[in-house]
Amino acid sequence: MEFVEVASLEELRESKRKKIEIEGQSILLIYRGGEVFAINSVCPHAGGPLEEGEINQDDISCPWHFYTFNIRDGSCLNSPSCRIRKYNIKLEGEKVLIKI
Ligand code: FES
Repeated sequence: MEFVEVASLEELRESKRKKIEIEGQSILLIYRGGEVFAINSVCPHAGGPLEEGEINQDDISCPWHFYTFNIRDGSCLNSPSCRIRKYNIKLEGEKVLIKI
């Protein structure tokens, strides 16, 4: 699949996060320090809603059992085998595009 436009930088600067549904997948866009990250919004531990998680620096914590994931590399601080899926993001001017 090609890159698809899913948000504008302006709205992400404002909201800091946005959940989207695309190709049957729930994806969380996170704006942090001028960069945009995209991760699967379903926690790989037991399905918790990462869109409701707390973000601290490059980490997001699941609200259910507080597993913490790095939004840059998808790794989990609590369990190495419990990684979140990441997606490639491309910025074109103000457009945020994602590749599934
Ligand atoms: S469901 Fe996310 S930490 Fe358990």
